[in-house]
Amino acid sequence: MKPKIYISRKIPSRFIEPYKDSWTIEMWPEEDEVVERDVLLKHAREADALFTTLTEKVDRELLDQAVNLKGVANLAVGYDNIDVEYAREKGIVVTNTPDVLTDTTADLTFALLMATARRIVEAEAFIRSGRWTTWTPFLMAGADIHHKTIGIVGMGRIGEAVARRARGFEMNVLYHNRSRKEEVENNLGVQYVSFDELIRTADFVVSMTPLTKETEHMFDDSVFKKMKSSAIFINTSRGGVVNEEDLYQALKNHDIQAAGLDVFRNEPIAENHPLLKLDNVTALPHIGSATYETRSKMIELCLKNIDHILKGEEPVTPVQ
Ligand code: GLV
Ligand code: GLV
Repeated sequence: MKPKIYISRKIPSRFIEPYKDSWTIEMWPEEDEVVERDVLLKHAREADALFTTLTEKVDRELLDQAVNLKGVANLAVGYDNIDVEYAREKGIVVTNTPDVLTDTTADLTFALLMATARRIVEAEAFIRSGRWTTWTPFLMAGADIHHKTIGIVGMGRIGEAVARRARGFEMNVLYHNRSRKEEVENNLGVQYVSFDELIRTADFVVSMTPLTKETEHMFDDSVFKKMKSSAIFINTSRGGVVNEEDLYQALKNHDIQAAGLDVFRNEPIAENHPLLKLDNVTALPHIGSATYETRSKMIELCLKNIDHILKGEEPVTPVQ
């Protein structure tokens, strides 16, 4: 009997073409709607492998019912939506999509940093709304990027790629990470500092850390208060690392200058979200890895991981 695969979001059929003869594939038919929970559970009960996205919770409830499940391939580098430890206990392999999205996500992080510092989105809205009446000395004046200090919290692969871009802008690069990365320090001339020193001295504080029990709400009121009042906060990792109410207050009271956010605690956010009421917020709908090239590579990698798992081989990118 062919193994059963369930794909929790509609992906173009060309990606699954190579596997059509070997697998029985079912797929949630919507591209822009999350799979209904009971539909996901029903398929999980029968599937040999699941292809999931970050909007699906692969938790104890699901894993307990998934008696045939051998692997879960998550279409993301982050996997906070999956109870990885419990999956491991059950002998279910979890994979993610690192490496293929590193440079793309670093590009977006830097684009968001620049857009926030130079008020690109606000300036574009300004001109479109017919408010550009004359040149003025400080019209849409923002903050310099070059030669400033960037503090990267979480020096994984993406953090390193952001550091490389920052060096191109002749920035002074600080980082904080659970472990020192001496090779990165030597290669890129970046400096390891304590979290406290980083948030006190950086002009740009960039969160690149995965969401875990330890990092949840690590950016809160006490942290924003320590930052420079000219500091710009950028988050392209996970919304859960930030206490959003505290961030809102910090931005509203100008304890910090601005924030660029690609991620939020509960996504999607609605147009009446408090953070969207602030002019000093540049917001994006979680598009860090969203290029045609990279999303295609991520999908291919998920399918390849499933293929390896079903053949009893080591997957290409298992979550350790
Ligand atoms: C996206 O947020 C990812 O984790 O890949
Ligand atoms: C995180 O896992 C990264 O690749 O930076």
